[in-house]
Amino acid sequence: MAKAVAIVSAICFLALASFATAQLGPVFNVEGEVYCDPCRVEFQTSLSKGLEGAAVRLECRERDTGVVTIQSETVTGKDGKYNLKTGGDHEEEICEVVALKSPSEKCNVSFERADSKARVLLTQNNGVQGTDRYANALGFKTAQADEECKAVLEELGIVPEDI
Ligand SMILES: *[C@@H]1O[C@H](CO)[C@@H](O)[C@H](O)[C@H]1NC(C)=O
Repeated sequence: MAKAVAIVSAICFLALASFATAQLGPVFNVEGEVYCDPCRVEFQTSLSKGLEGAAVRLECRERDTGVVTIQSETVTGKDGKYNLKTGGDHEEEICEVVALKSPSEKCNVSFERADSKARVLLTQNNGVQGTDRYANALGFKTAQADEECKAVLEELGIVPEDI
């Protein structure tokens, strides 16, 4: 009798476990960082610094309808890095991380073009293995470019326009 109960509960357990796995799918760990761009070029330079306490949001939307399927927010740590965990396969969705808000009064202007959103592939069906996903760095810029930027940008072969 005890044996029968044990077998039945083992079967129930396995059924539940596989149900849970089917429901949740893989758990992805999305990592990235938010930086301050003091040169207003909207990419990382040697003068960029990680922004601690910046709010980021991961959002997936259905490709066809635009309906939001998941949303998850966090804030960056000391070095400007963040970590977001989310479950499920999102192959048919567009998933992006956006930088919502900067804690810095000096460096709180949203980017207009590149780096204002970072696309992540939250599926294992496209040949991307594992569950770690690295999002492109996101940033905020200052209202005015820093004096030091002139030399840095010249070194990169960029002629600064508004310094
Ligand atoms: C940035 O910070 C300044 C100073 O606190 C504030 O006046 C401005 O509204 C902020 N800008 C944004 C986009 O949050």
